[in-house]
Amino acid sequence: MLLVGLGAVSTTFIAGVIAIRKGLAKPIGSLTQMGHIRLGKRTEGRSPMINEVVPLAGLDDLVFGGWDIFSEDCYSAAKTAGVLEPGLLEQVRPELEKIRPWPAVFDQHYVKRLDGPNVKKGKTKRDLAEQVMADIQKFKKDNDLDRLVMIWAGSTEIYMTESEVHQSMASFERGLEANDPAIPPSMVYAYAAIREGIPYANAAPNLSADIPALVELASHTKSPIAGKDMKTGQTLIKTIIAPGLKARLLGVTGWYSTNILGNRDGEVLDDPESFKTKEETKKSALDYIFQPHLYPDLYKDLCHVVRINYYPPRGDNKEGWDNIDLVGWLGYPMQLKINFLCRDSILAAPIVLDVALFLDLAKRAGMSGIQEWLSFYFKAPVHAPNLYPEHDLFIQLMKLKNTLRYFKGEDLITHLGREYYD
Ligand SMILES: NC(=O)c1ccc[n+]([C@@H]2O[C@H](COP(=O)([O-])OP(=O)(O)OC[C@H]3O[C@@H](n4cnc5c(N)ncnc54)[C@H](O)[C@@H]3O)[C@@H](O)[C@H]2O)c1
Repeated sequence: MLLVGLGAVSTTFIAGVIAIRKGLAKPIGSLTQMGHIRLGKRTEGRSPMINEVVPLAGLDDLVFGGWDIFSEDCYSAAKTAGVLEPGLLEQVRPELEKIRPWPAVFDQHYVKRLDGPNVKKGKTKRDLAEQVMADIQKFKKDNDLDRLVMIWAGSTEIYMTESEVHQSMASFERGLEANDPAIPPSMVYAYAAIREGIPYANAAPNLSADIPALVELASHTKSPIAGKDMKTGQTLIKTIIAPGLKARLLGVTGWYSTNILGNRDGEVLDDPESFKTKEETKKSALDYIFQPHLYPDLYKDLCHVVRINYYPPRGDNKEGWDNIDLVGWLGYPMQLKINFLCRDSILAAPIVLDVALFLDLAKRAGMSGIQEWLSFYFKAPVHAPNLYPEHDLFIQLMKLKNTLRYFKGEDLITHLGREYYD
């Protein structure tokens, strides 16, 4: 597994997998490790584990490598991140100490609040992409690996929209040569992975592989891609609660979300340009779930505000508050308050694992390009240009499980269920 950025999420994920392998902890929150799937009719009583139904890579088969702008090994990085207890970290220390990041492709223009020494040098962005490809090939050879997956778990880059250089493979490759500023480091890594035919997922909100040029390349090299911005914390809760309110046709006039967060991600997001990227992915979910164009009386004037405040004393233990102003029968107002004391990287780590294993499965199943069935894991699911994204967590889960049934040639489950009564 290739991880770009060995920060809080990546080290919590790697340390967790090693701890689980050693029997020190359980893979809670991971569908690939703990989930079951119903096959056939309810009367058949078949609900095997997902990992018994589809041939997923096992945890023992995973080998980790990655890039970071800081050269500290994964044990020190995990200590800096401060997510896992020292007692647990000590037990996986030897394995973590062996993982040292390769020099990164980095430019402070794209992440203003960050700078570090472990950075590649190259005349053009194409040179840098080739250096990343060389790292990948060396890692594969040194560890005698059959297959690879790359996940961007680097810091959130500044807000960017699609431009001319992103429109085709040819223009993108010219842009790499010309050091076009519309190509941030995350796209250089994505390009390197996809060129090598490696599945790529973006765990952060910035524009990365979700541009026509890289989608085109992915279809040539048969790379599955997924993203973006893992659905943890407040947005996870939002996409659990909002479909319920919508199902009961309760109106919503306001949804105010605020967070305090004290890890390095919080510090990066304190910069308005990085926050703008996050705000876009965080805000889109409600619009799609509520469908105000179909339900103007209920959701047309929804005032949706999202705030993230950097507050160092909390470290990775984020606290989120949501105030939801509801409207019921005859327009009577109500309120719902949610206070979630969560741990960001503890929620994120199982997503990294599941996405990596499912992307590897997709690659072997011959599926390439955008993997919409993995929307379940993302705040801003990547989707085809002529579609709107599906944000409802329950529809997303149904889609994911039906895709697994489809892989196995099992009947898809529609929940119609007439046959039980005929
Ligand atoms: N923790 C969560 O729950 C969560 C949820 C959704 C998305 N995310 C996103 O995942 C990403 C990682 O989060 P985190 O909490 O681990 O942050 P972090 O700041 O702890 O780690 C990010 C790491 O990426 C490194 N980095 C930055 N630019 C790089 C580059 N160009 N090349 C290589 N390394 C680079 C940084 O040095 C840092 O070590 C962030 O973008 C965050 O917004 C996190």
